Amino acid sequence: MSGPSGETSDVLALAVRLARAAGAIQRERYETTHDIATKSAPVDLVTEVDRACEQLVVGELATLRPDDAVLAEEGSGTDRRGAEWRWIVDPLDGTVNYAHGYPRFCISIGVEHAGERTVGVVYDPLLDELFHAVRGGGAFRNGRPIRVSSEDQLGRGLFATGFAYDVHRSVDDNLAAWGAFVKQARAVRRDGSAALDLCYVASGRFEGYWEQKLHAWDVAAGQLVVEEAGGRCTDLAGGPVPPDGNPIVASNGRVHEQMLALLRSTRTS
Ligand code: IPD
Ligand code: CA
Ligand code: CA
Repeated sequence: MSGPSGETSDVLALAVRLARAAGAIQRERYETTHDIATKSAPVDLVTEVDRACEQLVVGELATLRPDDAVLAEEGSGTDRRGAEWRWIVDPLDGTVNYAHGYPRFCISIGVEHAGERTVGVVYDPLLDELFHAVRGGGAFRNGRPIRVSSEDQLGRGLFATGFAYDVHRSVDDNLAAWGAFVKQARAVRRDGSAALDLCYVASGRFEGYWEQKLHAWDVAAGQLVVEEAGGRCTDLAGGPVPPDGNPIVASNGRVHEQMLALLRSTRTS
C-alpha cells in the first residue's frame, strides 16, 4: 500500500514528530515527583507533564500551521471556525496511571480534514510503540501493518473498558456491563488509557473495548486506527460513534454484535 500524498503526508509526519517529542517528555519525567492537581473530580488528575506535552504540541502547531484549528484537552488550543485542518490532542492519555507510576500511558493526536478524521497517531513512549493510521491507507505499529483479531466468540475474547471520572457519584457507572463481561468473556481489563485500548483492539491484543463519557481527544486517533485495521466502531445501538466519542464500542467486527447485545442487556434505560 502506498503512503499518503501531499499535505496529508506532511500532516502525518508532523503528528508523528510531535507525538515522539511529547512522548520523550513523558518518558524523561516518568517516576519523578509530580505536581498533581484535580479537575472535574478528586479522581480526575492533571500533572505538569500533561501541561508540558500540550504546550509543546500546541506551540509547535501555532508556529508551523497557524491556520489550523486545535482542540487540546487542557484547554490551550484555538478553535478556528472554518479551518480546513483540525488537530485533536490528548497530551497525556492515562494521567492517573502516570501519576501513580503505572507504565501505561501515551499521547494521542487525531487530525480532521474538512471535518473528516484523516490522520491518527498514538505513541506509547515506554514500549516505544507508535501506532498510526491514515484514512484509506491502513493502520500500522512502528511502520508495520496491523490487523484486528479473527476471534468470533465473545467467550474467548479479551476485552477492555474504562470508568468515567464521575464514577463515584453517578449511577450510570458501567459496573453492570463490567460484571456482565467478567462473567462471559475470557477476561476483562481496565488499563487506564482509552487511546491505547483502541490501538490494542486494532493490533488484535483485545477483541473489543467499550466506554462511555469519553471526549473527542480520547478517541480521535484510536478510532481511526481501529477502523483502518479492519475493526468496527459504533455507539451502543450500532450507529456511528458521536464526534465526542461518547459512547464508543470498538471491536474486531466479528464479536461486535455480541458486545452490543451484552451491553444492551445490562442497560436499565
Ligand atoms: C482517561 C483515560 C481512561 C479513561 C478515561 C479518560 P485521561 O483519559 O483514557 O482510560 O477511562 O475515561 O478520561 O484523563 O488520562 O487523559
Ligand atoms: Ca484521555
Ligand atoms: Ca489526558
